[in-house]
Amino acid sequence: MTKAFISGILGQDGAYLAEFLLKKGYEVYGGSRRNSQDELYRLQVLGIEDEVSLVPFDLLDPYNVFETVSAGQFDEFYNLAAQSFVGSSWETPVVTSNTDAMGPLYILDAIKRNSPHTKFYQASTSEMFGLIQEPRQSERTPFYPRSPYGVAKLFAHSMTVNYRESYGLHASSGILFNHESPLRGVQFVTKKITTQLSEISLGKRDILFLGNLDAKRDWGYAKEYVEGMWQMLQLKSGDDFVLASGKTSSVRDFVIKAAECLDFELEWEGEQLNEKAYIKSTGKQILGIDEKFYRPAEVDILLGNPTKAKDILGWESQTDLADLAKIMVKFDYDRISKS
Ligand code: GDD
Repeated sequence: MTKAFISGILGQDGAYLAEFLLKKGYEVYGGSRRNSQDELYRLQVLGIEDEVSLVPFDLLDPYNVFETVSAGQFDEFYNLAAQSFVGSSWETPVVTSNTDAMGPLYILDAIKRNSPHTKFYQASTSEMFGLIQEPRQSERTPFYPRSPYGVAKLFAHSMTVNYRESYGLHASSGILFNHESPLRGVQFVTKKITTQLSEISLGKRDILFLGNLDAKRDWGYAKEYVEGMWQMLQLKSGDDFVLASGKTSSVRDFVIKAAECLDFELEWEGEQLNEKAYIKSTGKQILGIDEKFYRPAEVDILLGNPTKAKDILGWESQTDLADLAKIMVKFDYDRISKS
């Protein structure tokens, strides 16, 4: 049996990847430093909580990382653990850097020393492009991160490339653009929108407050993106790939699409901090802007060029933004109506 380790198995991508690998007949180990029952909910939603072996794993602890890699002798190691919320990274730049930059280096070094046959996947991110240097970002686009998170992830990405080139490790970096799902954490904007609009529709909330509605992202469905991660590790040698939909939409566009799923037709008024949205038929305000959700430095627009992934992996994003909004709203509406 092929043995895989997923750090961050309790997160959105970790849970979907575990489900995918189990279907392929893998023995799946998952690392997490959070052990509360609550956090198991993603594995429970997928019905796989009893099929994976959970082990304590902490990217802040080099000894723990070294021991896990050395003792496990895994065939594949997916590093999906991170402080992954860009907004928090300005408040906790040191913890973010220790986790997102140094953590992957501990793994790479442990693999190099004690488990060089292990194939390694690093969860890199489109946030590394930050202030974009090309209209469509590919593996060859220069990076310009705009947050402590982006900077830390760029360090880890560069280390992954360097360990591959220096020591011949099978180490790959997936530069994933935003990918969402019902299992997304509620602090991320799509999930916040689908959750809170569902609550408004069910009479459990009055208003949704957001930050910058003009930010544009290249959004896809997380369940499809984890397949790309696996495909990278099936190649003869490690490489870097952009996974993206190749389309970009604003936060406002996503609000409109999610609202449509709940039969809300919106009317917009004002600009920037004064922007508001109302339900056309009733005149009720359901959206406002709160400055606290703005970021000190924004990534205004991201748009990926996934040509290399299509050509070499045969990977393509399948679900468009309207369908993604439908999947997420349905999940949240059903869940909230039962609670
Ligand atoms: N979270 C949040 N909350 N974002 C908001 C809000 C709000 O109330 N209002 C507007 N936004 C804007 C943010 O300013 C940002 O431009 C955009 O919505 C998306 O924010 P997030 O959903 O938090 O995602 P992200 O793009 O910052 O980062 C996500 O994608 C990266 C891949 O590019 C995270 O998953 C990262 O971990 C990942 O690397």
